Amino acid sequence: MTSTPTTRIPVYLDCDTGIDDALALAYLLASPEIDLVGIGSVSGNVSAAQGAVNTLDLLALAGRPDVPVAVGAHHPVAGEFDGGVPHIHGRNGVGNVDLPPSGLEPVAESAAELLIRLSHQHEGELRVLAIGPFTNLAEALRIDAGLAGRVHGVTVMGGAALTPGNVTPVAEANVWNDPEAAAEVVGADWDVTLVPLDVTEENVFEESDREALLAAETPLARALGEILDVYFDFYVVVYGRRSCALHDPLSAALVVGGITATKAPAVPIVVDTTQGPGRGQTICDLRGQRMGTHDRVGRRTRVVLDTDRPLAEHLVERILAYRPAV
Ligand code: BDR
Ligand code: CA
Repeated sequence: MTSTPTTRIPVYLDCDTGIDDALALAYLLASPEIDLVGIGSVSGNVSAAQGAVNTLDLLALAGRPDVPVAVGAHHPVAGEFDGGVPHIHGRNGVGNVDLPPSGLEPVAESAAELLIRLSHQHEGELRVLAIGPFTNLAEALRIDAGLAGRVHGVTVMGGAALTPGNVTPVAEANVWNDPEAAAEVVGADWDVTLVPLDVTEENVFEESDREALLAAETPLARALGEILDVYFDFYVVVYGRRSCALHDPLSAALVVGGITATKAPAVPIVVDTTQGPGRGQTICDLRGQRMGTHDRVGRRTRVVLDTDRPLAEHLVERILAYRPAV
């Protein structure tokens, strides 16, 4: 049994829901350590508008219609939204499953405005978790340069440090979809933790985990089991079997503290925004780390390279145990 902490850490989630985003959302709702105080959507796996619909439908299924959801940026900082990845996340982003429509509406403010408002409300405490392209975060920094000073820290699922990319040989999807925004976010004066493919691809959800969700008592867990079907098909080319990487849930678990980073040096990180073959690469300066992990003086960007335990079992446990407060 998990006891409920007296003080919950306020978390703002920015996402492109998305199948693994949906798992991350469920995990956050099921985690008593944190209070999910707001959610912004962004174009990535699907459009920002569709991502907000998916998020609201999942919140309704979870019995949490009170969490505010704001629609964020449709287009990246430079260029245009490319239409998403229906071959990975399904036409609607949730594996072509028709979730019960929530009937809920997004709030009137944009995702960037919601983030800025929450940073005032929870000054010095707010954790920002971005599991889609970083467009809304970059927009918020442009609107309000003081944002960086009011946020406790930023955790972003994105990039590839010492492993290949998943869109190009060097670029990971969230960074690839808006490299200019990613460059602004890692370059801003706040503490950023990058959770790259190096660790997310090491955390795999298997058919047995999906079956546990499908057999669950709660509609949310069962829906997650169903929407994973399409995602599992896609990952056959990655792992050689039906399964999937836990990109976004791992990032969520690092914010919650359910998983701890055991190797996460503070090093310079630069995002390649050129138009060449390196576009979207997260260049992490890991020179010297063979002699043991060490932080570079004055650096506020960390890259997670190892964690204390695999996530899948903990993730399933939390989602199965979750019952909305009445
Ligand atoms: C990231 O890209 C998206 O497709 C996933 O939801 C995850 O956030 C993985 O590269
Ligand atoms: Ca995502």
